[in-house]
Amino acid sequence: MTSLDGRVAIITGAGRGLGREHALFFADEGAKIVVNDLGGANDGARTDQVPAEEVAAEIRARGGDAVASADDVAEWAGAENLINSTISTFGGLDILVNNAGILRDRMIANMTEEEWDTVIAVHLKGHFAPSRWAASYWREEHKSGRGKPRNLVHTSSTSGLFANPGQSNYGAAKSAIATFSQIAAKELSRYDVVSNCIAPGARTRLTLATPGLEEIMTPREGAFDEWDPANISPLVAYLSTANCPFTGETFFAQGGVVKRVRSWEMGDTVEQSSTWSVETLAEALAPLADGPS
Ligand SMILES: NC(=O)c1ccc[n+]([C@@H]2O[C@H](COP(=O)([O-])OP(=O)(O)OC[C@H]3O[C@@H](n4cnc5c(N)ncnc54)[C@H](O)[C@@H]3O)[C@@H](O)[C@H]2O)c1
Repeated sequence: MTSLDGRVAIITGAGRGLGREHALFFADEGAKIVVNDLGGANDGARTDQVPAEEVAAEIRARGGDAVASADDVAEWAGAENLINSTISTFGGLDILVNNAGILRDRMIANMTEEEWDTVIAVHLKGHFAPSRWAASYWREEHKSGRGKPRNLVHTSSTSGLFANPGQSNYGAAKSAIATFSQIAAKELSRYDVVSNCIAPGARTRLTLATPGLEEIMTPREGAFDEWDPANISPLVAYLSTANCPFTGETFFAQGGVVKRVRSWEMGDTVEQSSTWSVETLAEALAPLADGPS
């Protein structure tokens, strides 16, 4: 028996890059896959749905079970259709991997409203909207006595968690996704749903578009290809297993490295039992100004 035997999984943005690797790996692990991808360009401009169909065909050619979906996850109705069509095709939904993404990098002072809105929509709403329709389905299933373990896996980024300049739109969305995952973990545990997040590092067209990264990520002959996007998929599959013991966690993954990311935590404290003045606060906080201890 494989780790995802018979489970039904949606992987968004699975026509290329990381999502494609997840889809192929999940299929090898026994899952039935909905390969969702609208086939957009790097910056989100729409092209065609061929990549999703190619991945689904590749899975079927290997003896797996897969269908393609061209729904736009950033659209409310697209997300609803993605969840509903999965349920009618495969008779249920066990796993939702939110992975679809685009980039529109720009310094804050130059960023356009459209660049901000599009990136926030694809990433943040594109994580929320499918999760929302999956959550309402899972709640209904649970209330009807058909509850069973279900899994959400979201895709954040070190760009958001550690604040990369030039990517305020992308980073804000990616940081919000990590928090969204934690909130989903708390809200949905009553329906037997776990929600976890990854922050991957891998060679895809998204990272190859970043100046300087192509050379770093080029595989060296005979050496472990630590930037191969396929390295990330076993973690995503593990977080999608029915007995996954984690929820509300974020894991960094690159090559053979997996690290648990520590969440926001309270740090240095100053306290008094009355309202501060600006002057007394300045004096109390001065020792902290050199940075966190
Ligand atoms: N590659 C990395 O090192 C890295 C690092 C951190 C985070 N990520 C995240 O991993 C995820 C996958 O990125 P990738 O590197 O594989 O990039 P990629 O461009 O190869 O794949 C992303 C896919 O998402 C699809 N997509 C975009 N908008 C969509 C929408 N609205 N609906 C459905 N599909 C849509 C695209 O068509 C594309 O095929 C993204 O969320 C990205 O931000 C990647």
